[in-house]
Amino acid sequence: MTELKIDITLASSRKPKPDFDHLEFGKNFTDHMFIVDYTEGQGWHDARIVPYQPLTLDPASMVFHYGQTVFEGLKAYLTKDNEVLLFRPDMNMKRLNRSNDRLCIPKVDEEMALSALKQLINVDREWVPTAEGTSLYIRPFIIATEPYLGVSPSKRYKFIIILSPVGAYYKEGINPVKIAVEREYVRATIGGTGNAKTAGNYAGSLKAQEVAEKEGYSQVLWLDGRENKYIEEVGSMNIFFKINGEIVTPVLNGSILEGVTRDSILQLLKHWNIPVSERRLSMEDLYQAYKNGQLEEAFGTGTAAVISPVGELAWQGEKMVINNGQTGEIAKKLYETLTGIQLGTEKDPFGWTVKV
Ligand code: COI
Repeated sequence: MTELKIDITLASSRKPKPDFDHLEFGKNFTDHMFIVDYTEGQGWHDARIVPYQPLTLDPASMVFHYGQTVFEGLKAYLTKDNEVLLFRPDMNMKRLNRSNDRLCIPKVDEEMALSALKQLINVDREWVPTAEGTSLYIRPFIIATEPYLGVSPSKRYKFIIILSPVGAYYKEGINPVKIAVEREYVRATIGGTGNAKTAGNYAGSLKAQEVAEKEGYSQVLWLDGRENKYIEEVGSMNIFFKINGEIVTPVLNGSILEGVTRDSILQLLKHWNIPVSERRLSMEDLYQAYKNGQLEEAFGTGTAAVISPVGELAWQGEKMVINNGQTGEIAKKLYETLTGIQLGTEKDPFGWTVKV
């Protein structure tokens, strides 16, 4: 493994820690952050770990105007043997580079990025929380920093990693969430940026989410942007259904985010010999399955959300209550196995965890 040479400046004092037993998602940040700069002709340079602090950026920085930015999300867990484990970080670094490619951002060296991440976590190791359902959420991101108002790829960037001790993403925790199927707005379309992890996808989703929240739903379920017919994803998570004994998730089509948790769930289900299929699934077919009593479970998967059961889907004025609004057996088993592997309490037959 390549050890990246990083300049480390430690904070003169450490911040008080939040109450690790009552952590909210994404509100607290650790004492340090990692930064590396990119300049055209020079490549990535000046890798450093510095005290967590605000950035000073030129107001003409291109990220503010044209949204040239990408991000990732992964987690670190503290085991009972006091080891810190990352979950499939190589997948996140690969996806970061796929997003970079789509957004015309220069690639990062994946091994270097992982080495930087490990060094940062080691500096802020005492911030990895231990309470059940908590973890250290890792947010790598890249922003375009060239001061220029022309529409073209920036010649300068910053790649930054920040860390945040977190609890559950949804206030419901592992309890089922209610989701509204979106009819008016679209998240992404084939040929767009739907499978890149870029800010614009999320900014564009806020309006629909705001409307859904007013009606008592946590999130929206997006349909495809072309026909407004086929199920895609939730935005903060991929979606799975149990229909007549088979687990079904929408097949990756270029506008759905390729979730690391999604891939892990597919591998676990195949390992357990549970029938699983990745295919195009229309909302109409899902509704018919519901009407025929064949929609047995629904759950979302994501790094932030982990496994989040869906207890109700709102569609065309109808409230589709799934599994009596209760957490289903598959969702529960997947949650326990996945978090067990991540925490080192379950066997890791796939070699997914990586020690920091
Ligand atoms: C994640 O699951 O890590 C994500 O990036 C989703 C985010 C919108 C919270």
